[in-house]
Amino acid sequence: MSGANMIEKKKSLQKEVIIMGIETSCDDTAVAVVLGEGRILSNLVSSQADFHQRFGGVVPEIASRHHLEAVNLLVDEALREAGMKLNELSAIAVTYGPGLVGALLMGVTCAKALSYAAGLPLIAVNHIEGHLYANFLLHRDLELPLVALIVSGGHTNLVYIEEHGCFEVLGRTRDDAAGEVFDKVARALGLGYPGGPIIDRLSAEGNPEAITFPRAFLEGNSLDFSFSGVKSAVLNYINRMSQKNEEIDVRDLAASFQQAVVEVLVEKAIQAAERKNVKTIALSGGVAANLSLRSSLSRRASEEGYRVYYPPLEFCTDNGAMIACAGIYQYLKKDFASMDLNAVPGLQLSAGCDET
Ligand code: KG4
Ligand code: ZN
Repeated sequence: MSGANMIEKKKSLQKEVIIMGIETSCDDTAVAVVLGEGRILSNLVSSQADFHQRFGGVVPEIASRHHLEAVNLLVDEALREAGMKLNELSAIAVTYGPGLVGALLMGVTCAKALSYAAGLPLIAVNHIEGHLYANFLLHRDLELPLVALIVSGGHTNLVYIEEHGCFEVLGRTRDDAAGEVFDKVARALGLGYPGGPIIDRLSAEGNPEAITFPRAFLEGNSLDFSFSGVKSAVLNYINRMSQKNEEIDVRDLAASFQQAVVEVLVEKAIQAAERKNVKTIALSGGVAANLSLRSSLSRRASEEGYRVYYPPLEFCTDNGAMIACAGIYQYLKKDFASMDLNAVPGLQLSAGCDET
């Protein structure tokens, strides 16, 4: 690109909203720069999975330490890849909850420092909303109202969204999150961390009808979830087999367990769309990367006349672009945070409509 073209490009970009998204709620340090129109200029993720692998799950202190080491480097690299300087951004968006408190604080502190240093507005993003906004980022034709199924390692939520910023929580897990049970079952089988992708891969070669595990549909027409029953059933099965000295067919076990979880997620998402009389279901969060969930929900939804959206695989798990995208919508509403922003580890989706 010639020097003149480069200057022209920069000028046109400057007229737009340009948001940096910073995400450090769990074990991925992620920073992205996204344009208001949804174009991703940079999107970097530094995964810590290898460091947590031998513990079979995320160790909070290790997570915080790695975020501290990585976050500033990623900020510099994300700006460099985007061809931007800090003061050319419109705002800094950061995840402030839910998540691990020490991990969240690394991102929040970094974002506050950048915001203060460059005089940029600070935007506090709810991580669960961030996952939802991955769909708006990647599907420009996505329209409201819709029902969202947001399923990750820490959350399982069915949400009705009529307007941006208005979330009606229709159901949430009463115990373990969907991703959490994938991780716990994988750990019990000695398969490594994170368990979801490993179980997903093994399931492709297994028989989902081989072992019957319980499906918790709960009382009445509840749209809440409970995955502790299926988790205990799998753990009991593993113990029984090892007491009898019988070999476990890990592929069949993985496929049967996965089917039990996916079936409940799919049926409740369809019920929610029916109840709210919407035509669109948006699936997101780390577990949305599950191939069986993606295909089963798409199949059931098309039978029932619903459209299903989900992000490409790399935007299902934690990333900075989804936080930046949620930040764009908050920026347009001038929904800014102050310098006393703190991490809120137990943050929930706000039930009511924010009138700001
Ligand atoms: O969204 P995410 O990166 O972090 C949280 O917000 O929790 O989700 C991570 C979770 C982990 O529990 C991981 O095992 C699960 O998403 N996951 C999957 C798959 N890929 C990631 N679960 C099932 N199938 C997958 N393919
Ligand atoms: Zn997440």
